[in-house]
Amino acid sequence: MNHLLLYCRPGFEKECAAEVRDLCESQGIFGYCKLEENSGYALFVSHQPNGASQAVEQLDFSRLIFVRQWLACLPLIDDIDSDDRISALLQLIDQLPICSELIVEPADTTEGRELQRFCNSFSSAFSQRLRKQGLMDRRAVNRMHIFALSGTRFYLGYAPEQNSAPWPMGIMRLKFPKNAPSRSTLKLEEAWHWFIPQQDWDRYISSGKRAVDLGAAPGGWTWQLVNQNMFVTAIDNGPMAESLMDSGQVTHLTEDAFTYQPYKSFDWMVCDIVDKPTKVTGLMTRWLVNGWCRETVFNLKLPMKQRYMEVKNCLAALEADLQEAGVKYHLAAKHLYHDREEITVHVRVMNPGF
Ligand SMILES: C[S@@+](CC[C@H](N)C(=O)[O-])C[C@H]1O[C@@H](n2cnc3c(N)ncnc32)[C@H](O)[C@@H]1O
Repeated sequence: MNHLLLYCRPGFEKECAAEVRDLCESQGIFGYCKLEENSGYALFVSHQPNGASQAVEQLDFSRLIFVRQWLACLPLIDDIDSDDRISALLQLIDQLPICSELIVEPADTTEGRELQRFCNSFSSAFSQRLRKQGLMDRRAVNRMHIFALSGTRFYLGYAPEQNSAPWPMGIMRLKFPKNAPSRSTLKLEEAWHWFIPQQDWDRYISSGKRAVDLGAAPGGWTWQLVNQNMFVTAIDNGPMAESLMDSGQVTHLTEDAFTYQPYKSFDWMVCDIVDKPTKVTGLMTRWLVNGWCRETVFNLKLPMKQRYMEVKNCLAALEADLQEAGVKYHLAAKHLYHDREEITVHVRVMNPGF
């Protein structure tokens, strides 16, 4: 297959296309992108007949920032007979590998959401038929996806379970915790789910750790840290929610995060300050290079036009400075579902004895 379908937050199609083209080209997969602004998806069409299959099977999905989900797929299936969609799709199924399950999903747009009920019922009808005909196998390593643009226009494709997002539409749905003081709280929770496998939570997000929250007020991120039984130093001139202060786990310092220096290092530093990405990146670099924290989750706000270039430059500068300082690290970044004009970055210092 040579069509690579990419899902993203509507409005981020250009970023999504640019980063996929960069990643594909770095591995010798060449092609061109097709996109429509605010559609919630983009297409990379490879010049090689198998370029998209090669991409989903050989490139690392976790390196993509703006892409929520990717599929190797057939060209657009247009104007399918709405009386018998299943037969029309069955004729194409032998072009896909055997898959473990089927997900039928719309774009994350207003029109897309109107298709959700159709997607759910079509998904269960088509899955039943595929199982009945022995065309699905729970042990298979790929998932089948149908991306519905309407009731008659589809992309049919697949993605490896171990190298794609596990959630429909590539979106992790989280319930807002009722006592949290701000909706931002979901950004940190989603970040932890994205960046830290569940089996590692006991080791990295555990009780008794010391954390600092830069730009903490009113306390949505601090709430998550407190909820994991950490002790939190919250830095902000603004007021923190009283319920958090009552927990006895929070020390609030009304200081400037850009000049604050800890007297003792922290396990975690998180930062949600609204400022220039280069300035925030500089602050993060200072914390990591000085060994003031072992692990961080921070946001880079992106109100500018050239968002992809800005992110690329900031992350390249951060990595160059860490390498120069001899810091061994693992870095990942994602445009999370709960992020709007921003991305979230996770860095863990890997030097022994840290
Ligand atoms: C987006 S809000 C943080 C929301 C918070 N993460 C939450 O979940 O409730 C950004 C905060 O950064 C604070 N801030 C901005 N510049 C700062 C600075 N130089 N030092 C400390 N705090 C700063 C603001 O006062 C504001 O409360």
